[in-house]
Amino acid sequence: MLVIETINLSRIFINKKTKKRIEALKNVSLQIQGGQIFGILGRNGAGKTTLIRILTTLLLPTSGSAYVLGYNVENEYYKIRPYINLVSGGENPGYGVLNIKENLFFFSQLYGIPRKLAKEKINKYIKEFGLEERAYNLVNTLSTGEKQRMQLIRGLLNDPEILFLDEPTVGLDVESSRFIRQFIKKWIEETGKSIILTTHYLAEAEELCNLIAIIDSGRILALDTPSRLKAMGSKEILYEIETTPLSLEFLKNIRGVSIIQDKYLDGKVSFKISLENESLISNVINKISELGSNIIYLRKKETSLEDAFINIVGRSIEDD
Ligand SMILES: Nc1ncnc2c1ncn2[C@@H]1O[C@H](COP(=O)(O)OP(=O)(O)OP(=O)(O)O)[C@@H](O)[C@H]1O
Ligand SMILES: [Mg+2]
Repeated sequence: MLVIETINLSRIFINKKTKKRIEALKNVSLQIQGGQIFGILGRNGAGKTTLIRILTTLLLPTSGSAYVLGYNVENEYYKIRPYINLVSGGENPGYGVLNIKENLFFFSQLYGIPRKLAKEKINKYIKEFGLEERAYNLVNTLSTGEKQRMQLIRGLLNDPEILFLDEPTVGLDVESSRFIRQFIKKWIEETGKSIILTTHYLAEAEELCNLIAIIDSGRILALDTPSRLKAMGSKEILYEIETTPLSLEFLKNIRGVSIIQDKYLDGKVSFKISLENESLISNVINKISELGSNIIYLRKKETSLEDAFINIVGRSIEDD
């Protein structure tokens, strides 16, 4: 089922001070099927949050249209809102002077959840998210990781059909982000619902998302599965090989093979080669054994999502 559709969606901001016009989204046309984690990957300022804000009915498009669960974000937002929720990373959660339980109960009442059911859900999630010991502590005393877990619980209270996660692990330590990633995967598996996730962490996009849209300067530049995107990283076929002592001169005589790197240490030779075609690797292996040397290690270097990102966007996700 199609849960999101955008047609030539554009959003322009005018900077109040400089009067400069910023095209945060440019003709974004997307069709997103439900039951999966759909990732939006992009650098700072790429337009991720703008897209999420339009889809969660918090911001209007300048032109084009967007439909969530078949409803138009502009004039049917009230039909969309009960079925979605949004959790943003680094967001200040709720009211600092309330404790976790009070905060979550407060939000459950805004979502119109019957009191008894709300309390049951909150207790269940507090346990599942390992927040039992902190349940009665004021929110402004929580660590960043604990706050973010509480936010995620808040996002689940209305059992959303689509959960929007805008950089859900930003600023979290390894353990808290791992917890959140595991939970996200489990939730999708168990419920079959949909998650739209933005991130600028390549590894997170690769681990979690069924499909990734790469966005830059407001445009979607690529949309595919993580493995097919990675294949766009580089056409080069690279191998890393380690052998017992051996002179690498022989490689110069195999056409289509070039040495990229070589190191001689502790009675071992490590080298990296680039091949013009895949079948050349068997020539290399045969030659090594003919020369009386043993292969200790041989690995084909996979292209990374980072390589693909640079290829598609023209610059790395983190550099300025
Ligand atoms: N309310 C606003 N007024 C003016 N410009 C804005 C406004 N909101 C966003 N922008 C600009 O629109 C562009 C896209 O911003 P957006 O927040 O969507 O990017 P992002 O991909 O979420 O970035 P980040 O990774 O930093 O969160 C940026 O150039 C930003 O400065
Ligand atoms: Mg953002």
